[in-house]
Amino acid sequence: MDLGLRGKVVVITGASRGIGRATAEVFAAEGAHLMLSARSGDQLEDVAKHCGQNAYTFAADLRNPDVPDHLIATAIKYFGGIDVLVNNAGATKRGNILELDEYDWRDGFSLKFFAAMRCSRASWPHLKRSKGTIINVVGVGGRTPSADFAVGGSVNAALLNLTKSLADLGRNDSIRVNAVNPGSIATERLQRRIKSLAVEQHMTEEIALQAMAKQLAVNRFGEPAEVGRAIAFLASTAAAYCHGSIIDVDGGQTRTL
Ligand SMILES: NC(=O)c1ccc[n+]([C@@H]2O[C@H](COP(=O)([O-])OP(=O)(O)OC[C@H]3O[C@@H](n4cnc5c(N)ncnc54)[C@H](OP(=O)(O)O)[C@@H]3O)[C@@H](O)[C@H]2O)c1
Repeated sequence: MDLGLRGKVVVITGASRGIGRATAEVFAAEGAHLMLSARSGDQLEDVAKHCGQNAYTFAADLRNPDVPDHLIATAIKYFGGIDVLVNNAGATKRGNILELDEYDWRDGFSLKFFAAMRCSRASWPHLKRSKGTIINVVGVGGRTPSADFAVGGSVNAALLNLTKSLADLGRNDSIRVNAVNPGSIATERLQRRIKSLAVEQHMTEEIALQAMAKQLAVNRFGEPAEVGRAIAFLASTAAAYCHGSIIDVDGGQTRTL
């Protein structure tokens, strides 16, 4: 199916690895023009190289309140407009409320929630002009809280709420806003969790992987491109009537409504 994304300008945060990188590659294969952001310039350049000549990079720390404005202004400078914003950058420390300190809470919100809010705000007038779309990459922890994902779950719940709020505003401004909730996706982050579980429980990484899949009751972990394809679908005209939708891409991990 042609998703109609050829020539569309797509800004992706957290594009240097994992889900963001896979998403950039999916959009590049559809012929989109890309503005890729993360902190690590070298990794971003590598992604851009794989995405072809219409990919530019912007390396900066999105926790800095000024950076989202600069990112969007740079995209406008290169491309003259924006059609799609993918708010994907996120990294929250795992742990329960007794294990996490003030910094962990502030850090979790300052990247995943505030950067998404600021990028959305900065790109809104441009998306209004292009009748564009925002996709927030959130996470199943926003709907299914757990003790050991206190910051991540809270940030995700806040971002799901913001998704609905933006979608409400977007009805007037012709901007579609949706979210995807990845489950456990096989990225470096998951690899790190497996490693620390293996150390904690004195087991091999292979056994730790199986134990985690069993605990989550999933048959396998997801591939980053499986999330990327859901994002590209939501950005496309095929999803024109999806607005304020929250799509779980989690192999059935979420069992609640
Ligand atoms: N993987 C999963 O199982 C899973 C599950 C649920 C939700 N999610 C969500 O999906 C998104 C992507 O996850 P992932 O697993 O692909 O993560 P990842 O592999 O850890 O990648 C995170 C991306 O964010 C960038 N980033 C981190 N800190 C940043 C900062 N301060 N400023 C700018 N960019 C920053 C990283 O690049 P630099 O380090 O170079 O800055 C990287 O490109 C996140 O929002 C995550 O919460 C993932």
